[in-house]
Amino acid sequence: MQGDVYSRAGNAADPPSLYPAYRSTSLRAPLSAPIPIPQTLSEITGPLYGQADVMPEEADLTRQHGGEPLGERIVVHGRVLDEAGRPVPDTLIEIWQCNAAGRYRHEVDQHPAPLDPNFTGAGRVVTDTEGRYRITTIKPGAYPWRNHPNAWRPAHIHFSLFGPSFLTRLVTQMYFPGDPLFAFDPIFNSVPDPQVRERMVCHFDLDATEPEWALAYAFDFVLRGPAATPGDPDNA
Ligand SMILES: [Fe+2]
Repeated sequence: MQGDVYSRAGNAADPPSLYPAYRSTSLRAPLSAPIPIPQTLSEITGPLYGQADVMPEEADLTRQHGGEPLGERIVVHGRVLDEAGRPVPDTLIEIWQCNAAGRYRHEVDQHPAPLDPNFTGAGRVVTDTEGRYRITTIKPGAYPWRNHPNAWRPAHIHFSLFGPSFLTRLVTQMYFPGDPLFAFDPIFNSVPDPQVRERMVCHFDLDATEPEWALAYAFDFVLRGPAATPGDPDNA
């Protein structure tokens, strides 16, 4: 069936929707097995999510205010690929993240770290004909959360990918190499296979750094297949 080409259902890389160590999944996880709904023309042909309206400056989170945000300026770049390694163009990539001090500009985040008046923490970009994207931002900090005593999230950037239809969505988190918090993070560890977890960790990319300006990290998204990028446990 044509619609099945878009499905991520049964993606072996995805974490389970219920992972008790990640406490809130106990509240959100479905109690019954999902019911497959046949994909029809209305699901696989639309709507598009704003691909046409994305401005180039939206891919630079360091240029959204009058001054420059504090923190370590970085470039994150890579490609969106299908299960055969083919590039996926025209994918809307949205990101959100905390600032360098580990705080989100969101009313729910009230932990005692400073907000940065020059950093909102949201941006977007559309992949080009080669499936490539490139974002300039600030390296996010670790932050505490109340999942369990002394719980801290490793530094991460949230990503949402929208393809050509309503169903073509991947929501995931990207981590940075060598983070000492990996071993203690239930969200990272909700992906059971350690080798699959590594697919959520970007790679330092010296060739893509901008001398005197920014370090760079490479991160590819694989939408399906044996090398698929794991989804976020909230959205997998
Ligand atoms: Fe987060």
